[in-house]
Amino acid sequence: MIGRLNHVAIAVPDLDAASAQYRTMLGADVGAPQDEPDHGVTVVFINLPNTKIELLYPLGEASPIQAFLDKNPSGGMHHVCYEVDDIIVARDHLLAEGARVLGGGEPKIGAHGKPVLFLHPKDFNGCLVELEQV
Ligand code: CO
Repeated sequence: MIGRLNHVAIAVPDLDAASAQYRTMLGADVGAPQDEPDHGVTVVFINLPNTKIELLYPLGEASPIQAFLDKNPSGGMHHVCYEVDDIIVARDHLLAEGARVLGGGEPKIGAHGKPVLFLHPKDFNGCLVELEQV
């Protein structure tokens, strides 16, 4: 059901410093910051030849990334994103298999303008999983 790895997301305590590090130290193609108010994050995408890295920084009062950074002050891996052809078919399959879909189960529009869903980390070996319809 899942296809390509779309991105790996890393929560960072300093978005400018992390962007500069990927650009200058790692020599990566680093995009511009984008605010995603619906998700409570500012994101920077780093384009690698085979996938992307998504740097996440808190936006707004109740950002889920702030809680993550409170627990992991130096930052850390936050989620992986897999591509699916049809997010509703994928969701219904996962629910039938007993997985928990976060946020009421209705897809939101993600950072690429495509529908996304998140799956409970406790059902996936402690790893938060994002699905994106492509
Ligand atoms: Co993501």
